[in-house]
Amino acid sequence: MNTDTTLLERTKDKRPLLEGLSADARRTSRPSILMCAPEHYDIEYEINPWMHEENPVIPNLAAAQWSDLRGIYMQRLGWDVRLVEPVAGLPDMVFTANGGFVLGDKVMLPHFRHPDRQGETARFEAWYKSAGYREIVMPKYDNEGEGDVLLWNDVLFAGYPWRSDRASHKELAEFFGLRVVSLQLIDARFYHLDTAFTVIDSSTVALYPKAFTEESIAAVRKLVPTVIEATDDDALAYGLNAMSDGGTIVMPSGAAHLAGEYRARGLSVIETSISEYQKAGGGVKCLTLVLHE
Ligand code: ARG
Repeated sequence: MNTDTTLLERTKDKRPLLEGLSADARRTSRPSILMCAPEHYDIEYEINPWMHEENPVIPNLAAAQWSDLRGIYMQRLGWDVRLVEPVAGLPDMVFTANGGFVLGDKVMLPHFRHPDRQGETARFEAWYKSAGYREIVMPKYDNEGEGDVLLWNDVLFAGYPWRSDRASHKELAEFFGLRVVSLQLIDARFYHLDTAFTVIDSSTVALYPKAFTEESIAAVRKLVPTVIEATDDDALAYGLNAMSDGGTIVMPSGAAHLAGEYRARGLSVIETSISEYQKAGGGVKCLTLVLHE
């Protein structure tokens, strides 16, 4: 049966046209994202519980995993992937999620907590300028960009206190003119919001309850109709460090329960190995900055 016939029959029997389409076809958006090649990526310091200098990166494997992820975004999903030049001596620059928070014409640059990463800010700033962003600000308080700031509809969920100061949330609210809901992280292994929280679509998020205070979880539940809970195993596999376009979730492999929850809801799931990045406390989302329009 060709497509025309299918459409015709659907019209005839008045079933909604979208019914029966794959999750891919239901996708709500094709994000533009920023990535940075892992040319200089390694474990050269220890600023979170995952990083151990005696457990270095295998460069070829890291390169292959990064290329696989980029290929998933570009070839399989048709997303627009832009690149910022990697810099020697800035091994964590590969984690572009920490390169700021971008919405429309506006950019809030990252104010990194640790001196090891502070050199990245000027590099990201140069990229935003060359890409034509007009309103670029540096927050007064520590804020590690999309690692700790996730857009859900017209709300910003913002994590603290490991890497971003709660005081930076007020700066976010004022600069972007959006409501900010502060979420307190309580487990050092899940030090950025994006390690324990995924925005799935306009009515759904996923989170690892043990990484948050009860008040924070209650604040999420008050707003979001569907909250999917990750298990310990999901969280330890960095399963929440994922990207969703509303129809497809790209996530680290190894979070079987979470992947099953998504599939049961009719979402399409692409799992990819990020073992070399987990050595630095990173995963799919950390390697991806969304350039929100
Ligand atoms: N090694 C990096 C750090 O500790 C990893 C950053 C992960 N990024 C993220 N968005 N969670 O800063």
